[in-house]
Amino acid sequence: MKERTLSIIKPDGVLRGLIGPVISRLEKEGLKIAAMKMITMTKDQARGFYKVHEGKPFYESVTDFMSSGPCVVMVLEADDVIGRYRKLMGATNFKEAEEGTIRRDFATDIEKNVVHGSDSRENAEYEIGYFFSALEMAEG
Ligand code: CMP
Repeated sequence: MKERTLSIIKPDGVLRGLIGPVISRLEKEGLKIAAMKMITMTKDQARGFYKVHEGKPFYESVTDFMSSGPCVVMVLEADDVIGRYRKLMGATNFKEAEEGTIRRDFATDIEKNVVHGSDSRENAEYEIGYFFSALEMAEG
């Protein structure tokens, strides 16, 4: 079933020249990029984005990191894209990620793990709406 998810290439990925390699993996997997832009979040914007993690020990640190430089944010669209993109990314902790996944191949740290992807339909809807309006989404 056609779904949408939010993908972010995080500041470590942008800084290390990994925009191309990440996008190439998405396209090879047949995940359509329905919207894309480069942004630098303020600390407050990063806090709002990660509000589901508020109160967790890594909340301050991850929101500092996510507001430390530019990110590429994308809406991906495909059948079962939430699960397929999460499989492509690999586990949050790159040490536990499967061979051949983006995080296993490129991440250096549990925080600096190159990419983000929504973990459910409910969160995808919130996360897409956080960065994109309906007008910015490609049709067809
Ligand atoms: P992400 O998938 O973007 O969701 C929350 C982010 O917090 C996660 O990737 C990591 O970048 C960061 N993080 C840091 N420490 C942890 C942790 N122990 N568990 C989960 N996420 C963490």
